[in-house]
Amino acid sequence: MTSGVAAEPTRGSVPAVPAAVHVLRDLALSCARAAAVRAAIVLGIADTVGDEPMPLATLAQAVEADPSTLHRLLRALATFGVFTVTDDGACAHNDASRLLRTDAERTMKHMVLWTTEPWAWTVWPHLDKAVRAGGDVFTALHGREFFDYLHAEAPESAAVFDQAMTQSSRLSVNAVVDQLDLGDHQVLADVGGGQGSVLAAALERHPTARGALLDLPGVLGNADPRLRPGGALADRAELVACDSIDAVPVRADVYLLKNVLEWDDESTVRTLRNVVASAAPGARVLVVENLLDGSPELGFTTAMDLLLLCNVGGRKHTAAGLEGLCARAGLRVTGIRAVNSYLHLIEATVDPA
Ligand SMILES: C[S@@+](CC[C@H](N)C(=O)[O-])C[C@H]1O[C@@H](n2cnc3c(N)ncnc32)[C@H](O)[C@@H]1O
Repeated sequence: MTSGVAAEPTRGSVPAVPAAVHVLRDLALSCARAAAVRAAIVLGIADTVGDEPMPLATLAQAVEADPSTLHRLLRALATFGVFTVTDDGACAHNDASRLLRTDAERTMKHMVLWTTEPWAWTVWPHLDKAVRAGGDVFTALHGREFFDYLHAEAPESAAVFDQAMTQSSRLSVNAVVDQLDLGDHQVLADVGGGQGSVLAAALERHPTARGALLDLPGVLGNADPRLRPGGALADRAELVACDSIDAVPVRADVYLLKNVLEWDDESTVRTLRNVVASAAPGARVLVVENLLDGSPELGFTTAMDLLLLCNVGGRKHTAAGLEGLCARAGLRVTGIRAVNSYLHLIEATVDPA
């Protein structure tokens, strides 16, 4: 039985806890935030709640959850800024929760899923070891390198990853295509281009251009239907399965590497050298990245930098860092410009030998 007495809001007269304590308490439990938002997707809450607030009992029945524990999850999510929830547990969408819906135009469902996949939780406790060793911890934990593991042992996770990349690229595709400046009849090679949404948009924008999508074989199987045999762009597109660290087997006028050069520096330089080896003299190489300097979302970029360290021994870059890696590969950087509020494009040239 409850007394019906509501807790008084805390007043100025009670002892204050220093702000630094709040910072550390929130950080120490930040995994609960990631887990809660993942649970909202996996339980189907975001897809079940419609335009109107949904009573707790109706939602609990629809997602097959215990009403009382569902209420606790919803209260936590609302506190974190995802959904709004009334005292009696009725749940309504807000801007953030709507982006978790599968049918949202700019859905982030798979972006959230991939950074919270089961493998991700296995590496975080070993961040200290990655920092000591200066390399990944994934291989020692799982017996294979990250991308091998995804494709051989965790196909659902690989599919989540590929969709996440496509969803994330959708947010920037037009801005990236605006920057390509493809001439008539030029060939664009999108190295590590994922499912090819950027390449497809570029070929649609430039009707005389041809393109090649290069990625690991398991990724190309799910390439954008416009690029696959029978697709609207198939006669101007080639799908090239390769490991770009071994070879980039396409001669092109423009090479795009968007969010790809995020491995260890040696693999990045090898990929860039492979581009140089295949490229025509004067070819342009366009590297698109979230930089560690000039980023308005340093929290996201630095966290991703640590995740890349743990899973592939990789990193995010500063502009100067990327310029140095391009120089090691024999590329001359000719400019760095913003693509949108969070991506930069580093343009480099393959100089005549
Ligand atoms: C972060 S995703 C970026 C995908 C795409 N460029 C985009 O921006 O949406 C990195 C891509 O690199 C691909 N990749 C990773 N290692 C590779 C390798 N050794 N050779 C070719 N592609 C690779 C992955 O399969 C993935 O599609």
